[in-house]
Amino acid sequence: MSIGLSERAGAIAGSATMAVSSRAAELRAAGHRIVSFGAGEPDFPTPGHIVEAAQRACGDPVNHRYTSAAGLPELRRAVAETILADTGLTVADGDILVTNGAKQAVYLACMVLLDGGDEALIPAPYWTTYPEAVRLAGATPVTVHTGDRTDYKVTPELLDAHVSPRTKVLFFGSPANPTGTVYTPEETRAIGVWAARRGIWVISDEIYQHLVYDGAVARSMPAAAPEVAGRCLVIGGVSKTYGMTGWRVGWIYGPTAAIKAAVNFQSHMSSNVTNVAQVAAICALRNGRPGFDGVLAAYDRRRRLMVNVLQGIRGVDCPTPQGAFYCFPSVKRLLTKSILGHSFANTAELATFILDEASVALLPGEAFGAPGCLRLSYALDDQSLQTGLERLQRLLSSQDLPRAHVH
Ligand SMILES: Cc1ncc(COP(=O)(O)O)c(C=O)c1O
Repeated sequence: MSIGLSERAGAIAGSATMAVSSRAAELRAAGHRIVSFGAGEPDFPTPGHIVEAAQRACGDPVNHRYTSAAGLPELRRAVAETILADTGLTVADGDILVTNGAKQAVYLACMVLLDGGDEALIPAPYWTTYPEAVRLAGATPVTVHTGDRTDYKVTPELLDAHVSPRTKVLFFGSPANPTGTVYTPEETRAIGVWAARRGIWVISDEIYQHLVYDGAVARSMPAAAPEVAGRCLVIGGVSKTYGMTGWRVGWIYGPTAAIKAAVNFQSHMSSNVTNVAQVAAICALRNGRPGFDGVLAAYDRRRRLMVNVLQGIRGVDCPTPQGAFYCFPSVKRLLTKSILGHSFANTAELATFILDEASVALLPGEAFGAPGCLRLSYALDDQSLQTGLERLQRLLSSQDLPRAHVH
């Protein structure tokens, strides 16, 4: 019987990745040595100088009090300087809002842009939060399916096929989660110009901007297409670049009126982001990225290893990602086979099977709007990566012969 929760509460989907995560936790508790390719976060700790800045901040009573909902002025300044250094764009401190991680920035962007009846174009595979944030704002997510043949990229032509008079927003992410796709500056520009011509807002999620390989360049949307800057909200943060996922510091910047509205929302929802975490973020942004080249080289090495192993497994098609820290292979051919006598209706079943049989946790494509694919994070130590890939290779190589060939 219903206990009378809101329609909104009924409409929000739980995380589709939860089934695998909770099964992994059960197996771990039962003593299994699980290798997890599930995590969407760096495996290295927050650098010591950042932690020390936070420790000092804890002792300062100024940080024990409420501060401006928009963020500490010094952090907004540091973010503006970082944007200038990274993209060449000059952004006023007042056009930046410090948020509880980039995730809250996504939510706020939807709240200030979308009304009931509006549509938001979301290229798939997508980060699982986007459609939920659109629904929470009362609007309708419209999935734009891409494929591995186009490196999971949308093009103006593909967007044309999905746009309607109700389209208000386009989500854009480069490098993207879950595919690791990086748009070239020209491709980014083409998408931005497409949106600008139609008066459509772009929410550009640039949280993975520093995680690029093979010389790929992830140009910021308003830098690539200044035409759309007046209708573009850019999302960033310290989580992925500085190993600071748990500190919860992100930001959003864009046109003054939109940021003012987002500040108002945040002032009623959660007030300021934890001061100590903001001080840590100031330290992160003000001190460059010591050691980051080494981190990037480690990700790059792991990326190559993972792609090589996956490409060598029959039935697995793995494009080479150029950014973030995920591989997103298609296993559609594998789904038509059986493995050790088991067959699979979808990748959720396959992921559970892999977890049970090989003690390897990975995420099903359904969670990202891309049935038939799996997401594997390579942000884990070399030894675990090697072990996990060996287990996966062994299990997936035990494919049974198709029925017609069994005599
Ligand atoms: C594409 C994308 N945007 C935003 C976020 C959220 O980052 P944060 O930890 O700063 O909230 C994530 C985290 O996985 C992500 O993958």
